[in-house]
Amino acid sequence: MINIAILGFGVVGSGVAEVIKENSDSLSEKLCGQKLNVKYILDKRSFPDHELGDRVTMDYDMIVNDPEVVMVVETMGGSHPAYEFTKKALLAGKNVVTSNKEVVANFGTELLEIARENNVNYLFEASVGGGIPIIRPMWQCLAANKIESVTGILNGTTNFILTKMIEENMSFDEALKIAQSLGYAEANPAADVEGLDTCRKICILASLAFGKTVSPENVHCEGITNITLSDVEAAEKLGYSIKLLGKAQATDAGTYVITSPFLVGFDNPMAGVNDVYNAITVCGNAVGDVMFYGRGAGKLPTASAVVADIVDIARECKKAITWTLSDTNPVIDYKSAKVRFFVRTPDASAKDLFPGCVFCDTDEGYAFITDELPEAKLCEILANIPVLSKIRVL
Ligand code: HSE
Repeated sequence: MINIAILGFGVVGSGVAEVIKENSDSLSEKLCGQKLNVKYILDKRSFPDHELGDRVTMDYDMIVNDPEVVMVVETMGGSHPAYEFTKKALLAGKNVVTSNKEVVANFGTELLEIARENNVNYLFEASVGGGIPIIRPMWQCLAANKIESVTGILNGTTNFILTKMIEENMSFDEALKIAQSLGYAEANPAADVEGLDTCRKICILASLAFGKTVSPENVHCEGITNITLSDVEAAEKLGYSIKLLGKAQATDAGTYVITSPFLVGFDNPMAGVNDVYNAITVCGNAVGDVMFYGRGAGKLPTASAVVADIVDIARECKKAITWTLSDTNPVIDYKSAKVRFFVRTPDASAKDLFPGCVFCDTDEGYAFITDELPEAKLCEILANIPVLSKIRVL
């Protein structure tokens, strides 16, 4: 019997219990006949009608002090007290599995160090991409490579909203409500729509890819709240879809990391990634581009990744992830990086300012795509004309 405790019995935590029950036999086969047992559930609420209702406690010390508990599954969300509980569990010699991207992005380097010192695992496959295997493949299967870039649609809620707005002409608020009812959105959905969730996830991937701690506070972050249907229509005319991306790229000057909406050409497979699906392209210097695709949010897809980490530890794959990160910030000023931009303006003189660029007419004037140039330089040029919107192009 392998005893675990689940911290937080919300969408993901209850999904973990459901997968463990539903797949009990096949999981047991993978664990040489051993069974996973949810010994405790930590939550402020009670669940009298749930079959695990008698395992619910509000006393975290009881869990940490129970020598039978070998693994703590943190699915609480939010930084606090999730960070403190994780630290306490690792210091007590318990393995920790988490889906909490906020804690991993902000405190991952420290928690991995504590895990290493205490000879236990801190695993977080579910923190990025929901059910998509990405952390372990990057760390293990792509280990031969120097990673050159990682680019992803990393937030299911915003991809769902953008898809509904574009394909069904649904309002932003209505699409968000559905995403919330399906359990995709964060407790405070501002973290989804303002890009912070994507930012946390690209920071985790960038840190893993480049071996240095990339912190959300050093990364420029824009969400989808300023995207209008006029942007979507003009982008389509020029052959592009609009997606919220996290992007990290190695450059000669340092690491370029950004979260923002991007125009993605219809010929790029990412343009066809819709609804709650996420997709991540990793470019390695030996392998070239590798793309990962699947459900990026939701109860069972996320639980799938959490339970996979549980199984990994239960199989005694010790130190599945040993992530040593230097603490020096590698992120360069995003305005120094060269990018292409999509610009909408009512002013025809833009054609003189950007000669050679392809323009299309829109209801409100013109839209065009610039050549690659440093963002700071583009801002200087655009200061001479009124700008309705300006969005990066992948
Ligand atoms: N709110 C997140 C999303 C949940 O929509 O992607 C999964 O991390």
